[in-house]
Amino acid sequence: MCGIVGYIGKNPALPILVSALKRLEYRGYDSFGFFALDDSSHFLLKKVGKISEWEKRLLEINFGGNIGIAHTRWATTGKVDERNAHPHYDCKEEIFLVHNGIIENYQQLREELVREGHQFKSDTDTEIFCHLIEKYFQGNLEEAVREALEKVQGNYAIATISKRDPNKIVLARLGAPLLIGVSDGEYFIASDPAAMVSYTRRVITLDDNEIAVITPQKHFILKEKPIENIDWEIKEAQKKGFSHFMLKEIFEEPEVIREAVRGRMDIEKGLAVLGGLDQASERLDKINNIVITGCGTARYAGMVGEYMFEEYAEIPTKVEVASEFRYRKPLLNERTVLLAISQSGETADTLEAIREAKRKGALALGLVNRVGSSIARETDAGVYNRAGLEVGVAATKSFVSQLTILALLTVSLGRKKDMSLVIGKRILEELNRLPSLASRVLEQADYIKRLAQKYSKHKNFIYLGRKYNYPIALEGALKLKEIAWKVHAEGICGGEIKHGPIALVDESFPVICIVPSDSVYEKMRNAIEEVRSRNAKILAIATEGNQEIKELVDDIIYIPKTLEMLTPILSVIPLHLFAAYLGLELGLDIDKPRNLAKSVTVE
Ligand code: AGP
Repeated sequence: MCGIVGYIGKNPALPILVSALKRLEYRGYDSFGFFALDDSSHFLLKKVGKISEWEKRLLEINFGGNIGIAHTRWATTGKVDERNAHPHYDCKEEIFLVHNGIIENYQQLREELVREGHQFKSDTDTEIFCHLIEKYFQGNLEEAVREALEKVQGNYAIATISKRDPNKIVLARLGAPLLIGVSDGEYFIASDPAAMVSYTRRVITLDDNEIAVITPQKHFILKEKPIENIDWEIKEAQKKGFSHFMLKEIFEEPEVIREAVRGRMDIEKGLAVLGGLDQASERLDKINNIVITGCGTARYAGMVGEYMFEEYAEIPTKVEVASEFRYRKPLLNERTVLLAISQSGETADTLEAIREAKRKGALALGLVNRVGSSIARETDAGVYNRAGLEVGVAATKSFVSQLTILALLTVSLGRKKDMSLVIGKRILEELNRLPSLASRVLEQADYIKRLAQKYSKHKNFIYLGRKYNYPIALEGALKLKEIAWKVHAEGICGGEIKHGPIALVDESFPVICIVPSDSVYEKMRNAIEEVRSRNAKILAIATEGNQEIKELVDDIIYIPKTLEMLTPILSVIPLHLFAAYLGLELGLDIDKPRNLAKSVTVE
């Protein structure tokens, strides 16, 4: 999922594009490119790698053009090289364009255009746009863009400039986020408000199938659009003394728990107060089943929610892989809630699952971190994480926040059914204690760093957990795969390992066991005995005071005691740290792991 930025206004565009694009680098960092235009010439630069490696040289370039577009790429179609870096352009080098998304019928369009004499310089789907616009250009850029879009299938956010119809940028969106930043005599364009929040807080969010025309003086969109205000600070996108955003965000996990529950608990009445669900409360009273969906880490949060909802709210719940959801035949009805979980709020697979569920009459709720994102706009109601900006590509604090809000949702839904005031109150009281318990886990950071260094020589890892901590085993393994991508890891249900994967286990294959003192402790201890008898190196996450387990394992990280349903919020913290430190030990960029991007806006 690429990042797009643009600028048109009274100032030189290039320096603004450089600093804005840097803020979107977490959306993809395979290659980048800049295009700027002045009255007589243009500036074009496309390079493989990260902007940060070129920033200084770019800021020394003296090009005064006040209009420009730029792009940071997460490769989808066409391999990572300069030819495939954006911006792309037409045969006459008059139309320049940047794109985030995928054109699904690009091969067929390419063959048609080649037959008509167009010469392609890249292997990308994106370059199709440039030649289609060139084909339909009769002097007015937005007209040509409109005609070109009629031919294209897929999803896109595009920004384009033409030398023959200069002094304007034309934008269009279908399925990928795109915003316009409004300021005095200048406009900013970006895939994400983070790129322009230091220049303006007034933004217009483009909706699907909208085309916008921006000139220095004014903007024109088919239908009138409200200007919204961004209410978060840029300081959130700084490392605050940490070497990496991921580490900073892990150390913010106690604070995001506090933020997630702030003003949302009436402990005396044992009630959770989630104002964002008010507009759906009538339908919520009638629901009889819940489908949770999301991708990657968000889905794992949903799996913990599934255990919570069934055990404490007694509502039949299942978790669906968002990217599979609409290609199956999900049996939903108007008494079904689809709960979509997403940090970015822009994940295309999850968005499509929401649209499918709504088509089938389900109530669509969102659990989203990014305010004003597409999922927040398309769901019927929802809850914001309030976890602040998460820059590290690996989801960490957002996951802890998702688990905390799922616990609040459990009380909210449970108290509408048979959950007693006493149980509700108990869960909320424990949620209130969690931030300080989480801080206690982080106090072991140096010890966990030493463990990561000790285990960094191994190439394969198994993570084991049961019940509430089975999804945490999956999350722990995902974090290690993402962050320390030179090693492989697999999360397995503690009860499943004996049905095959244990064949892998020997002294070279560490097993990380999440074994808090909960209702499945004995069963997890059996799993530990099974891998121990195959000489596995065992690192356990266990509850403080459990001396017995110490005899069975090589290393142990203790977490404070809390309610079984809330243990995942504590047990995941050492696993986030372990992955971060092991990635650093292997000399990897833990904020921008290879081949990844923060929000996946293509299917
Ligand atoms: C997690 O570290 C990954 N970045 C990825 O699995 C992520 O959880 C997934 O892409 C879903 O993203 P979302 O929460 O923004 O929808």
